[in-house]
Amino acid sequence: MKILVVGGGGREHAIIKKLKENPSVTEIFALPGNAGMEKDATCVAVKATDLDGICAFAAEKKVDYAVVAPDDPLVLGAVDRLSAMGIPCFGPNANAAILEGSKVFSKNLMKKYGIPTARYEVFTDMDAALSYLESAPIPTVIKADGLALGKGVIIAQTREEARDAVRSMMEDKCFGKSGDQIVIEEFLTGPEVSVLSFTDGKTVKPMISSMDHKRAMDNDTGLNTGGMGTVAPNPYYTPEVARRCMEEIFLPTIRAMEQEGRPFRGCLYFGLMITPDGPKVIEYNCRFGDPETQVVLPLLESDLLTVMQATTNGTLAETEVRFSEKSACCVIMASAGYPVKYEKGYPITIPQAVEDHVYVAGAARRDGVLVTNGGRVLGATAVAETLPEAIRDAYDMVGTIHFDNAFYRHDIGKRALQAGKEA
Ligand code: AMP
Ligand code: GLY
Repeated sequence: MKILVVGGGGREHAIIKKLKENPSVTEIFALPGNAGMEKDATCVAVKATDLDGICAFAAEKKVDYAVVAPDDPLVLGAVDRLSAMGIPCFGPNANAAILEGSKVFSKNLMKKYGIPTARYEVFTDMDAALSYLESAPIPTVIKADGLALGKGVIIAQTREEARDAVRSMMEDKCFGKSGDQIVIEEFLTGPEVSVLSFTDGKTVKPMISSMDHKRAMDNDTGLNTGGMGTVAPNPYYTPEVARRCMEEIFLPTIRAMEQEGRPFRGCLYFGLMITPDGPKVIEYNCRFGDPETQVVLPLLESDLLTVMQATTNGTLAETEVRFSEKSACCVIMASAGYPVKYEKGYPITIPQAVEDHVYVAGAARRDGVLVTNGGRVLGATAVAETLPEAIRDAYDMVGTIHFDNAFYRHDIGKRALQAGKEA
């Protein structure tokens, strides 16, 4: 089978490596991929948002299955376009990807169907938002409605900061049209858990839980990033929390989307907060998380392609989705200065012994040499019997990988270990 994977980061590299385990997979094309995954896929210089280019390539190569991994092409309707050409696809249609594409849509859906989430108000008028802020509880959370490269959420610690955030979204249009509408919501507290799930629109099968580390620096300081490391499973996701999430959040969400005539197929990512009042939804993503995927898929024991096809065919109920009992840790190595300003073009050396466990996010090839080409450069994932061993092994691997100006957090998994001790 010839498979097309849309996207080019570490998440896509993890998806590709897992798909390759299926012996019927003969070729994988990554659009655009990156030079760090050339051993695992044929990288083709078509942007993930170039739907015409993606469709033309899929037709030319007669691909048998397509996986659309990033949010933008999903929200733009890549799955609708490929499906219309008769190519079976993994991922939601645009009318379901709106669950990530519009925060207003997702908040209103949760309110309508009684799915636990932070209390909120929606504003299309800046003056109304500013006047609401005069009496809103502080801290407060301001969210741009649309996609904003993961930067559309501001936690305002003071009224002044909240007003600035509203003005920059609605007046200065710092996120363009994504800020035409905003959500102002209640600030929740508690540990965060990421749960990715497979769903065919009717059945939902959660994957193993994970914990992201979003801040750039140790001890959760510094700026928010796309994620500096992950561990799985997440110790805060106890069997009791999992049971409540299934009953109060996962199944109600899948049923709500079906009832709205927007059945969700693909990977639905639940960003959860375990608050003192129970688990609540912080956000939905219409795709695999990055770098959650880099710890979740290595623990998947079932065949990924088979499970993906079951979400497309509506046969997930009959398909086994089994995870290992082991633990995984992924440490992201980034370029100094990320997420703001960083240099590119430094040679990367990855010893052959660890190559299988490295997921490359931002690399290019210059004169035959693999060089850094992004903020997040790569992630090293270790799987072990216990979390402390996985953490130790991941950092051992990081110690063998080299590029100039590399930086990484030294405390990935520390909070999870502490949680384990509290329990
Ligand atoms: P993202 O949507 O990935 O940019 O990240 C938003 C982050 O902001 C989440 O991971 C939470 O840490 C935080 N956040 C979002 N909404 C809330 C909320 N209502 N209360 C507290 N923290 C929040
Ligand atoms: N790691 C968070 C995300 O993928 O949105």
